[in-house]
Amino acid sequence: MSCYDDLSAHWSRLRKQSMRNLFEQNPSRFNAMSLQCKDILFDFSKTHLDGDAISALIALAEKVGIEEQRVAMLSGEKINVTEGRAVLHTALRSDPECSITVDGKDVVPDVHDVLSRMAEFSDAVRSGEYQPSGKVVTDIVNIGIGGSDLGPKMVADALSPYSDGPRVHFVSNVDGADISDTLAGLDPETTLFIIASKTFTTQETMTNAATAKSWVQDQVGENAGNHFCAVSTNLDATRAFGISDDRTFGFWDWVGGRYSVWSAIGLPVMIAIGPDGFQEFLSGARLADQHFADAPLLENIPVMMALIGIWHRNICDFSTMALLPYDNRLSNFPRWLQQLDMESNGKTTTKDGERIARKTSPIIFGEPGTNGQHAFYQLLHQGADIVPCDFLIAAQGHEPELDHQHRLLIANCIAQSEALMKGQTLEEAGNNPHREFAGNRPSCTFVYRKLDPKTLGILMAFYEHKTFVQGVIWDVNPFDQFGVELGKHLGKGVEKLIEDETPEKAGDASTQGLLRYILESRKT
Ligand code: F6P
Repeated sequence: MSCYDDLSAHWSRLRKQSMRNLFEQNPSRFNAMSLQCKDILFDFSKTHLDGDAISALIALAEKVGIEEQRVAMLSGEKINVTEGRAVLHTALRSDPECSITVDGKDVVPDVHDVLSRMAEFSDAVRSGEYQPSGKVVTDIVNIGIGGSDLGPKMVADALSPYSDGPRVHFVSNVDGADISDTLAGLDPETTLFIIASKTFTTQETMTNAATAKSWVQDQVGENAGNHFCAVSTNLDATRAFGISDDRTFGFWDWVGGRYSVWSAIGLPVMIAIGPDGFQEFLSGARLADQHFADAPLLENIPVMMALIGIWHRNICDFSTMALLPYDNRLSNFPRWLQQLDMESNGKTTTKDGERIARKTSPIIFGEPGTNGQHAFYQLLHQGADIVPCDFLIAAQGHEPELDHQHRLLIANCIAQSEALMKGQTLEEAGNNPHREFAGNRPSCTFVYRKLDPKTLGILMAFYEHKTFVQGVIWDVNPFDQFGVELGKHLGKGVEKLIEDETPEKAGDASTQGLLRYILESRKT
């Protein structure tokens, strides 16, 4: 019997049981099905899994060689096989004493060298010593997209209680509205731009960077160059843009864009919260890396997160997943996770170029609680599809004077997972079918003491490692993203048709028709 057949047999058995019964039958279910790492608790007892099904999942993990693949990634083997690269975002948060070799070179000293340069520059900006036009910097604008935006933006928002530096803004969209709205309230003399792009060729980023450059040049003239710094792996391009090397912070091809916030891509975060806070954030991820590297599979939080995801996606056939942070400052966490998970594992081809036999990354969506409760939770509770949920909640908020509100937040979070699990029988609903809840809807819950830099680092690294483990199980390469290229390529051709006003040259009737209509509408 294959691992998947075995797991399906467990699902046939368990789906007949209600989760209410599973809890009644096993009073120590919560203890058996929750794990702890430092200040973080991961509860997966509100799923259908039982000990036998978990053993079958562990057997699958062993069969695909999770432990060997984990060592391969952490030691710098070139596991990004389609691009011939190592995958070493873990080196970005490594202990300075350790050594990780790529192509015969220890990468750790370079990592810490860049971190030191970032710290020096951040301190100079934060203290007011660095004055691009003779005035203290009050606002930072990070221009980047995808991993060069979502990670630092999410982290800057999440850690805003720790921010005591200049205000930080993020511009990503090629839609001129984004940069226009952002610059509207800013003073060019006191604004510093970070142009963040691994490749320094991305259309959106380079277009916005050029807009920013003329905005600054128009107002501060010859000092304009002082208002820019760059984060990239492409130093020729940063120089060509006119950014001096001493304000350019590099990283390496073994850092994937969606895994890059730990590198110099985190510069806006470091300027906001200071180098010590950023080190705390890195140290959290390092703790998660150690846990991932050392904990036995059964006690390994990211491994269990991944296996639960495989259970829901491939065995129960649930096609979506909701990320529900009951933490308003994590409102960008679902968007960050969308890129991490869907750009990594939203694939149908194995590493060897074969068609994958199974479904891969689920569709991920989410909103912070309690807002989501008043938007899409109706479907979570009574909709036709079952949506496995991840809840996130802090035991303590950052507003002690509003602790009564935090109690309400906790109560809502815990009650929602309880309602999804228990449901409400027709009888309990007074025989009103509209008030019946099927229940048996699975969720996992993370509880952490407080959303501080270290905790955030741990949580993010857990989701990164979950993504990696699922990639191993599905046999995809989670570190390339060829799926984003066709649209980009076609976009260049379409842009030319718009510029030349030649819609008839488009390759199909729909594209021709749309372009014709748009070109006409632009004239009126
Ligand atoms: O969306 C494709 C992508 O390559 C992402 O993987 C990446 O994070 C983003 O574009 C931005 O790329 P860059 O940092 O090179 O501008």
